Amino acid sequence: MDHVYAAFIVLLSLTSHLTRGDDVHDDYIWQTNKLPKIVNSHTFHLKSPDFQADPRLELNGTCGIECQKNFPNPTLSDLEDYLSYETVFENGTRILTKVNIQGWRSRNETVPSTKHSLRRKRQVYGTDSRFSISDKHFMTNYPFSTAIKLSSGCSGILISPKHALTAAHCLHDGKDYVKDTKKLRVGILKIRSKRGGKRRKGSKKSRGGEREDMDSQKDSKKQRRKSIQKRSAPGGRNGTESQNEKSSSGSGKPSFQWTRVKSIQIPKGWFTDVTGKLAIDYDYAVLELKRQHKKKYMELGISPKVEKMPGSRVHFSSFDDDRPGQLVYRFCSISEESGDLFYQYCDAEPGSSGSGIYIRLKEPNKKKWKRKIVGIYSGHQWVEVNGEQQDYNVAVRITPLKYAQICLWIHGNSADCAQG
Ligand SMILES: *[C@@H]1O[C@H](CO)[C@@H](O)[C@H](O)[C@H]1NC(C)=O
Ligand SMILES: *[C@@H]1O[C@H](CO)[C@@H](O)[C@H](O)[C@H]1NC(C)=O
Ligand SMILES: *[C@@H]1O[C@H](CO)[C@@H](O)[C@H](O)[C@H]1NC(C)=O
Ligand SMILES: *[C@@H]1O[C@H](CO)[C@@H](O)[C@H](O)[C@H]1NC(C)=O
Repeated sequence: MDHVYAAFIVLLSLTSHLTRGDDVHDDYIWQTNKLPKIVNSHTFHLKSPDFQADPRLELNGTCGIECQKNFPNPTLSDLEDYLSYETVFENGTRILTKVNIQGWRSRNETVPSTKHSLRRKRQVYGTDSRFSISDKHFMTNYPFSTAIKLSSGCSGILISPKHALTAAHCLHDGKDYVKDTKKLRVGILKIRSKRGGKRRKGSKKSRGGEREDMDSQKDSKKQRRKSIQKRSAPGGRNGTESQNEKSSSGSGKPSFQWTRVKSIQIPKGWFTDVTGKLAIDYDYAVLELKRQHKKKYMELGISPKVEKMPGSRVHFSSFDDDRPGQLVYRFCSISEESGDLFYQYCDAEPGSSGSGIYIRLKEPNKKKWKRKIVGIYSGHQWVEVNGEQQDYNVAVRITPLKYAQICLWIHGNSADCAQG
């Protein structure tokens, strides 16, 4: 009874959240822009990594929000250095690719960092603002199904039929690759379609999450109907049973289907001997999967300024360590931004690093929600400011240059990355 009541409260607070007029800001037209071009110039073979680094769950920065902002703007040749990248294949072969940047305009003309009322306390929508998505239909369908788990213990997001995005620190500590990355695998939640699997009762717990970020109801109904039809086909079951199955969308519990990773790409900016304290700006990596995953993936977008984002709000789903086996979803407002980072106080526990931060928008006259990945969740940070410990969460923004780089990694060709 208690948790039903709690779910009700969550629903109420969500509803009031929605009726505060935030919905109005959800109308937003996604702009695509001409991208700077990143072109591979030289490749060098490096010796195979040692794969000896220990994984890090939290990043302890010595450089806080203010400190980070005081770095001088990088020059074009700095950027060409930071955006050069390493590729490590599953056989241990390691390559460094140097890049040239074309058509880039300095940050002068783009976004200077701005401050948004920094909240010193976590934004709380109850005791913990995270929702466990336990309804298997939602867990295994878009958008929640784009969240992945790494065998090394972080999260990530599907960004192409064969690629996933995650945080660099999940794979590399700045000096060497993390132990578990040698045989890295990616877990995607699937429902085992084995007959006679134990059926779970529909869970009420996830309703809050569903309410905030749900694909159009029509879609889900259609899919449910389809799956019911499939099951009542030849050799199937009689009417009474398929009636029962309306409340669930498959048999069996969702579980991870693991796929090997073929290669890993990390920008050189992440290696601490290259950028030092600035490395956090480059805490992202792309994984190429050995085989296609067949799930719907989420598109990348260049992160708009916070005030332009619908409700200034971001969403992300991940596999947090404190809730094993659960897909955890939350949304919150960005409290501060710099050219390369977002700062926020979304509740997140270790394990959530690497998840895709997305925004959700509804374009005028369009029925469907549009979602774009605008950042990569780096993690929780502690930092000392005037002798006081402060904590906040950091996400790496997808800037035009980072978009161009990730696009190049996915397509292998900058000609396909003119617009973003
Ligand atoms: C990071 O800092 C926090 C707070 O000072 C501390 O509790 C934690 O142990 C540190 N973690 C690491 C990995 O140094
Ligand atoms: C390792 O794999 C890469 C990519 O598949 C290939 O180009 C390279 O020749 C391989 N190296 C060895 C030593 O087998
Ligand atoms: C950036 O701004 C500084 C100072 O306002 C100026 O000196 C510099 O030329 C500008 N750089 C570019 C590339 O516009
Ligand atoms: C439908 O299946 C149930 C359970 O297997 C069975 O008890 C019932 O007799 C079946 N009804 C028909 C019409 O076949």
